[in-house]
Amino acid sequence: MANHFSQLARKSKSNTFVEKVSKNQSDAKPHKKIYTLGSDVLRQNAKRISKVDNSIRNLAKEMLQSMYAAKGIGLAAPQIGINKDLLVIDVNFEDSSAEPLILINPEITDYGTTLNSYEEGCLSIPGVYLNVIRPSIVKLKFRDEMGRPRKMKADGLLARCIQHEMDHLNGVLFVDRVTSKEDLNKELIKEGFHEKDVIPIK
Ligand code: NI
Repeated sequence: MANHFSQLARKSKSNTFVEKVSKNQSDAKPHKKIYTLGSDVLRQNAKRISKVDNSIRNLAKEMLQSMYAAKGIGLAAPQIGINKDLLVIDVNFEDSSAEPLILINPEITDYGTTLNSYEEGCLSIPGVYLNVIRPSIVKLKFRDEMGRPRKMKADGLLARCIQHEMDHLNGVLFVDRVTSKEDLNKELIKEGFHEKDVIPIK
């Protein structure tokens, strides 16, 4: 998810492993290529991770570096062409002491009944910002970077970001969920993207 809502940021849970990843990636070594709307890799179902080992932890680290370099608040593995159920999120990217979230094999276990509409962006669709309706609260389970099972409840920007990133694991992009076709087409054309690459959610 693109960074557009930093003012709503809230704290995430402690995580010592990723403290080593600097949030200031402006002059860091080249980061991973982020695929954009129209790329087939964004439309695949990602696969569950059976073993959380060093290769997964390194991948999470590279994803965090890429996300910070691109000034995003969330990145899913399929966006860098890796077909795995892994995503990283940091809604507090401007706060160097706040630690990011690494979600492995995330599953939403419950949605709140309240829906809200909020503007989203995506590192895979740069420059495009549109309103999307989603549940405002989610509960989820996942594994952390040490493979430990975890549960959490999220609301606000974090809940929205989690749902946006989890969509990526199912080959879904936020533009698929935009209800105003007129706004959608206008915004896509403005940034050089194509309506034919959108797969509307029924
Ligand atoms: Ni995205």
